[in-house]
Amino acid sequence: MKNITVLVSGSGTNLKVLIDSIKEKKIRNGRINLVISSKKDAKALDIAKKENIKTIAISKKDFKSDEEYQEEMFKSLKKENPDLIVLAGFLYILSEKIVKYFKNKIVNIHPSLIPSFCGNGMYGLNVHKAVLEKGVKITGATVHFVNEKADEGPIILQKCIKVKQTDTPEILQTRVKEEVEWKILKKAVNLICLDKVKVINNKTYIKT
Ligand code: GAR
Repeated sequence: MKNITVLVSGSGTNLKVLIDSIKEKKIRNGRINLVISSKKDAKALDIAKKENIKTIAISKKDFKSDEEYQEEMFKSLKKENPDLIVLAGFLYILSEKIVKYFKNKIVNIHPSLIPSFCGNGMYGLNVHKAVLEKGVKITGATVHFVNEKADEGPIILQKCIKVKQTDTPEILQTRVKEEVEWKILKKAVNLICLDKVKVINNKTYIKT
């Protein structure tokens, strides 16, 4: 059984999908042992607590510098020593030390089709605003392993949807979550828990 730690910052809908998928056995061979939030008042924390999952809040505001914050995060992760870390709407970039220590053990869900609309400043609603401003006709989401560069690690799964002329950033965010993120995140986590994802030369290969 793989021990999973989920990192969150916000509403926690992706976390909820992971919890439900484990209960429904759509994710096999995995369990969530810990949820770490970057915000003390994140709704995601309430979701975890309701399920009796251990939670920690590590807020950047409580640390003098990013280094100290990252060190505390590193200590907490190392102590838990999970098999898999899922960034489910976690809005900070993890330090190189953390990423190297947990190489190919951290996955992130990003709300666009990487390599479009990603990198610095591209998170949450900003992504959907940029998508609509550019006028692209398709968008989607990506689950990828995390490496030292933001949103550049090996891609595991992607799925696209059509952008509608009636979309606002908020509507598009909801549609991308419901129609794409929730589906590909649980699928990717299940594949990893079943040891079906290999990384070779910065690309992933999925056993079928
Ligand atoms: C999701 O749309 C996720 O893709 C995005 O934050 C949202 C969190 O929603 N993540 C990023 O933008 C990371 N770059 P949730 O808290 O309801 O799961």
